[in-house]
Amino acid sequence: MYTFDISTGSKAALYRDILSAIDAITAGEPDAIANMANAAAILWEYLPDLNWAGFYRNLNEELVLGPFMGKAACIRIPLGKGVCGAAAATRATQLVEDVHAFPGHIACDVASRSELVVPILDGERVVAVIDLDSPTPARFDREDAAGVEAIARLLSDRVNR
Ligand code: SME
Repeated sequence: MYTFDISTGSKAALYRDILSAIDAITAGEPDAIANMANAAAILWEYLPDLNWAGFYRNLNEELVLGPFMGKAACIRIPLGKGVCGAAAATRATQLVEDVHAFPGHIACDVASRSELVVPILDGERVVAVIDLDSPTPARFDREDAAGVEAIARLLSDRVNR
């Protein structure tokens, strides 16, 4: 059993502790799926107000569903399609306050109202994306984006084998 000491005092402290928990549990483990699975579990357990948290992997320039927590989701997303595909195609974080206003948003769970997708890069290559969905409009802000971007940097060489 793993136990983590996660502070909920401020968003910065929350992301600092989530990063350190994901660091601890993925350090030294070479299997990408195992590392994504544990990272998804930690994000899901400690980030409030989510209805989906997980990964899509970039396999031959197509996003394929990876480890996640939440409802069963769409399996394959072409680069450039939806919020995940936009993050992968542009290699840039997508912070979407209202998914209904995002052209081409893919509704895997009708409850989703806002979304944060962060690419995991290995140099120029997009290895995967981290996708967080919330039932609350504008759930995510720049602090969430920065927190998840730090997690993406940590995972860069831990989710590509
Ligand atoms: N909404 C995403 C699809 C993935 S699900 O939210 C899990 C998108 O538009 O890319």
